[in-house]
This record gives sequence, structure tokens and C-alpha cells, in this order.
Amino acid sequence: MNITVIGTGYVGLVTAAGLAELGHHVIGADIAAEKVATLNAGGMPLWEPGLQEILHRSRHNGLIRFSDDIPAAIRASQVYFIAVGTPEAADGSADLRQVERAIDDIGKHGRSDGVVVVKSTVPPGTGDALEKRLQQKWERSDLQVVSNPEFLRQGNAVADFFHPDRIVVGASSPAACEVMAQIYERLDAPLQTCDRRSAEMIKYASNAFLAMKISYINMVANLCDHLDADVDAVAQGMGSDPRIGSAFLRPGAGYGGSCFPKDTQAFITMGKQIQVPMPLVEAAVAINRNRPRDLLQRLVKEWGGLHRRKLGIWGLTFKPMSDDLREAPSIPFCRLALDAGATVAAYDPLIGRDYPVKDVHLYSDPYQVAALSDAVVLMTEWPEFRQLDWERVMKGRKSLLLLDGRNQFSLEEMKQVTHRWPLTYLSVGR
Ligand code: UGA
Repeated sequence: MNITVIGTGYVGLVTAAGLAELGHHVIGADIAAEKVATLNAGGMPLWEPGLQEILHRSRHNGLIRFSDDIPAAIRASQVYFIAVGTPEAADGSADLRQVERAIDDIGKHGRSDGVVVVKSTVPPGTGDALEKRLQQKWERSDLQVVSNPEFLRQGNAVADFFHPDRIVVGASSPAACEVMAQIYERLDAPLQTCDRRSAEMIKYASNAFLAMKISYINMVANLCDHLDADVDAVAQGMGSDPRIGSAFLRPGAGYGGSCFPKDTQAFITMGKQIQVPMPLVEAAVAINRNRPRDLLQRLVKEWGGLHRRKLGIWGLTFKPMSDDLREAPSIPFCRLALDAGATVAAYDPLIGRDYPVKDVHLYSDPYQVAALSDAVVLMTEWPEFRQLDWERVMKGRKSLLLLDGRNQFSLEEMKQVTHRWPLTYLSVGR
């Protein structure tokens, strides 16, 4: 099939590369000429494990190319995936202007009987509004609009594309469903078809639920801290019940990234606009907002204050295997620490410059950071921290405090470390 993917951000690019790998002829279209040039030259505008390899293969096989000529890219295909951003608007709702621009381009240049597939996260009812816009503004009742939400995780997006738990297709006609079934024919995953509004809702309801799970375990972790219980044992015991499930019960610094914070906010705003209260989601957001402060409080409790204390941070991105700093909990954490009078040195495998908090000094290895610090706070569980040489971390030191903000180390292994070196180990909820 000939498919044009509009938007080559993280979702668009992974989707375009994945569709080409499935054998479709794909054009990745983007208004950013520089990005398009980078992609056509074999470069990568973002970091995602495995993406470079599949893109390389499809380029080589002539199955994918990139273009900043949006009208021509649209005219060349029959199926149009919209994968542009829906950032948070000033009132907390999803800003749909990029989606509307894409639909107008499709209205103007789309082939007859084309199918528009909305990958971008949009509020329920958006597909209906887009179809109406195509009909009323562009007199295009031949174009179908399908909702096909994405469930890709950064750092795992390529594997998620090829092995999804489910493919959700919201469409109003069997013909559109058939096109979608053909597109994903080679993937071994259940395909759920439903009405378009429900498909759009599935995305928000899923992300908000996952955010609630994280905030729930973080709330339990706070209680465990005070009652001397071990939140990891609690999460394990809870997660063994298949009705609960063990995923997304890892306590820590809280969730960040470009999805959960924005989508939970949009979900709440959606409810507000139609007077449907969303107290569970509001509580999840409030708990998450407090996580950096909760963590910092552990240090304040230890020292009585942070004035002139030297803090080191291991990991700055919102999660490992990603270079994304959007809504990363390290950012408010560093701001709070600096406001409280501490100095902050940091190391992250993928962040060597341009960290948004300018008074944070960046270093190129975790040992340097430890050597400069009274306490190190682990904010992102990068796998390389598991390989640390504790002898090197502790070299020449009389003491060091380590606050493991992601419970990356087990209590058992840290017992060995604290037994040998003057390290005080603190973690979350245990
Ligand atoms: C999330 C969803 O997991 C995807 O299914 C969805 O497609 C995507 O948003 C999206 O809407 O585009 P992502 O933001 O890439 O994916 O990353 P996650 O792995 O979900 O992690 C999000 C945040 O939650 C990270 O900051 C992570 O550290 C935190 N987290 C996750 C926890 O604190 N505890 C956990 O148990 C799990």
C-alpha cells in the first residue's frame, strides 16, 4: 500500500519506519525541511533504539523516503497517517491546530476515496469534527477518517510497533476497517474495531490509568517509608494478582515524558468542560507533582537542610533509553534543590549540554559527579548504573549518601556495598 505519514516526530517516524518494514511504500512528510534533509541523508533527528537499522533497510529497499513537499507527498498516496503533535494548550486541553492543518492539506490534495488515519492523541469527537471539516470546508465526503491510537513507549517503540498488545481501530465503515486490517496484516496482534469516539477514548483512558497506577504505588511508598514496610515487596504481592498486574507499579521519582503529563491534563480538562468530575486522575496528577519534593524531603530529613550541600544527580531524562527531558522529574527536583541552597552536579549518558536548569553543572561520567558531591540522587535508572564500580565511587571518601530515587538497586546488593564502604543508602518506600 502507498502510505504518507504526516509528521516525523517520534510517533510519526517510528510508524513510518515500521510500516515500510511491513512492506508498504511510505513517504514521511514534514514541514521541517532540515529534518527531512537529515532523514534523506541517512541521519537521525532523534534517538530510539533499533530505529536507525530498520530505516536504513527500508531506505536501501526503496520503501521509504522523506519529503517537505506536503501536497506532493499527499498526492502520491491513498492512505494518510496523521502523526503530528497535540501539545497542551494554555487551558490544559489538547491543541489540535497541527492536526487541523494536516486535515486541510489532505482535504485539498488527497486522492479520491482516501483513508485518513489519526495516530495523534486527540479528544473523543475529534475524528467526527475532522470528517465534518473535510465535508463542509473541502466538499470531500469521499474521504474516511479512522482513529488508530498509538501505544508506543519511548526507548521501546520499535519493539512495541512490531509486537503490540492490541491494535485499536475506530472507524465508521467496514471498508475503512478492511484497509486498516490490510495495513497491519503482517502483525500478529488482536485487532479491536470499535466506533471512532471509543477508540479515541481508549488512548486517554489507558494513559490516565497507567499514570494512576504509578501515583498509587508512589502514595503507598510514602506510607511504607513511615511504617517501615518495603514497597517493592508490597508491589510484588499486589502485582501477582492478575486483576492488578505487576506492570507500572515501580515507585520512584514519578512519571514524566511527553505523554502522561499532557494526556492526564487533557483528560481532566475534557471532564471539566462537560462537568464530569475526574477526581481519581486529578489525585494522580497531584501526587506526581509532589514526587520531586517528597524525594528532596528525604535529604532534608537526613541533614536538617540543604544550604551549601553538594548534590550529584545520576540520570536526568524522564526514563532510561531516551534522550527526552520533557517533564522529566529531574528538572523540578534540581530547581527545588538549588532554591534550597544546594549546588548541583549531574551526569546522564545522553545529556551532555542544554539542560533546562542552567545552574546544574553537567559532567561526562558518574564518578566525577560522585566525587564532587555530599549526596548522589539517582533520578533515572540507566542500565549502566548497574555496572558501577563502587570502589571507584567511594575512592578516598569518608562518607557518601546515595538516594536511589528509582529503587534501581536491591536492598540485598546494597547491603554488600554499605558493608564494605562508608555509604549510606536510601531508597523509595523501603
Ligand atoms: C507512555 C505509555 O506507556 C505508552 O503506552 C504510550 O503510547 C505513550 O506514553 C504515549 O502516549 O505516547 P512513555 O511516555 O514513552 O509511554 O514511557 P513509559 O515507559 O510509559 O514511562 C512514562 C513515565 O512513567 C516515565 O517517567 C517512567 O519513569 C515512569 N514510570 C513508569 C514509573 O515511574 N513507574 C513505573 O512503574 C512505570
